[in-house]
Amino acid sequence: MQPKADEIKILLIEDEEFDVLRVRNTVSYYENRIKIVNTVSNGRAALELVKENPDKFDVVIMDYQISGGLKGEELITEIKAVDSFIQIIVITKMTINITDYNFANRLIKAGAFWYCTKYPGNIEEYIYQPTDFILSIFNAFEKKKLEKLKLRSDKKLSQNIVNLLEIKRIIGDSKPIVQLKESIEKYAKSDVSILVNGPSGTGKELVAWNIHLKSNRKYENFVPINCGSIPDELIESELFGYEKGSFTGAQNAKLGLFEQAHHGTLFLDEVAELPLNAQVKLLRVIQEGEIEKIGRTKKVQVDVRIIAATNKDLANEVNTGRFREDLYYRLNVVPIDIVPLRLRGYDIILLFEHFTAYFSQDMGLETPELEEDAKEILLNYRWPGNVRELRNVVQRLVLNCTGRITAKDISNPMILRNHLIVKDETSFENMTFGQVLPYRDVERMFKKKYFEYVRSISSSDSSAAEKLGLAPSNYYRMCKELGLK
Ligand SMILES: Nc1ncnc2c1ncn2[C@@H]1O[C@H](COP(=O)(O)OP(=O)(O)OP(=O)(O)O)[C@@H](O)[C@H]1O
Ligand SMILES: [Mg+2]
Repeated sequence: MQPKADEIKILLIEDEEFDVLRVRNTVSYYENRIKIVNTVSNGRAALELVKENPDKFDVVIMDYQISGGLKGEELITEIKAVDSFIQIIVITKMTINITDYNFANRLIKAGAFWYCTKYPGNIEEYIYQPTDFILSIFNAFEKKKLEKLKLRSDKKLSQNIVNLLEIKRIIGDSKPIVQLKESIEKYAKSDVSILVNGPSGTGKELVAWNIHLKSNRKYENFVPINCGSIPDELIESELFGYEKGSFTGAQNAKLGLFEQAHHGTLFLDEVAELPLNAQVKLLRVIQEGEIEKIGRTKKVQVDVRIIAATNKDLANEVNTGRFREDLYYRLNVVPIDIVPLRLRGYDIILLFEHFTAYFSQDMGLETPELEEDAKEILLNYRWPGNVRELRNVVQRLVLNCTGRITAKDISNPMILRNHLIVKDETSFENMTFGQVLPYRDVERMFKKKYFEYVRSISSSDSSAAEKLGLAPSNYYRMCKELGLK
């Protein structure tokens, strides 16, 4: 016969016949729920039983003083080591001082669930006040069930995280990407605000996801908001929400993104687009950890980790007054920079192959093979749209190719739309590290580079000055200004 689901199976460890009887008598009223499955008189035998019969017992009731070597705290620890779900109730002799808290502490620390002191020996019906004793057995059983449930849901949750991490895996082993992954590992566990910087399509959101999934907030929400796509007048209600009836049209209360991200992570994408008045409010929330909801006088506590991203030079936005300096420092506690795809070398091919496998599987097609001269084109292309562009290119290719991907396939303008834009090492972007800088700074950079170049091909300063069409005195002054002397 199958044991009933809510039957509580007991292992009794007791070496005195009389006390075994008393325990039996105490639980007899509930014999349909509480079943003493085995009774043993020493610790070793008990431990063997637990080892050999996984999941057979829910609760152990053990006498504290038993003969044989293994007993007391040591026995508790050993049983818990074999099966941490088993709950242990300890019965001790009256002689043990019932107000000895250290003793109680030691038992609990060893892993006991509860303990009680035996009634005097002249009472045969009970070992202890029966309702308390039985209630404790029920509670112990409930605890075991809850612990099992928790383990199961924890397992499910962490399996979800493992799956998500696989989906959100950052492909690449070029130096800048290895460094990027190291930064993610280093900062994920702390709650510092992170500013992710990189040109469009380089994987800023992917990086934010990875930080979240590796943080202690991983089981909570990751809430992205694109600051550039929400009209100015709606930003505040999106971020902080509002109460029902707080203005005409507010028929229902709205949960703000900060509340949705409570205990989790808020991803502020395109943060440079945030209007100035929203910047002021955001700064205050970050400083105080509280939001002011529209239509509510009491502030609401929020615990949110902030990751912001931008493809602009935010420091420059500060200089030109479009972004608040104080907010900039709050967001940019740790900067993480992502380099453009064309600076990642062979990662281009790794990503290409990754997406090829992904899309062919998705469409139920055979994964095509990439030919060598096709690789050459991919490696020399400038990838202005970065990984996002590469992903789209692969998607188009997988639909159009079978078996092999050739150079001809790739240079088809329907596939690589601008395949003639190849990497150009002297381009502005390389000179300014992919950033757009104020003209003054670029002019200086250019002057310095050009002076260095002309000097390197000249035999003397006077010949360099002559090539540049400058009087020697002007030439010397300019070299000094540029830090070249
Ligand atoms: N290193 C990488 N490995 C795998 N996939 C990547 C990688 N980098 C980017 N991707 C993928 O490329 C696409 C673009 O990435 P993502 O949206 O994170 O970029 P972004 O920098 O936020 O772009 P935008 O500036 O346009 O918002 C996504 O599908 C992302 O999963
Ligand atoms: Mg993005």
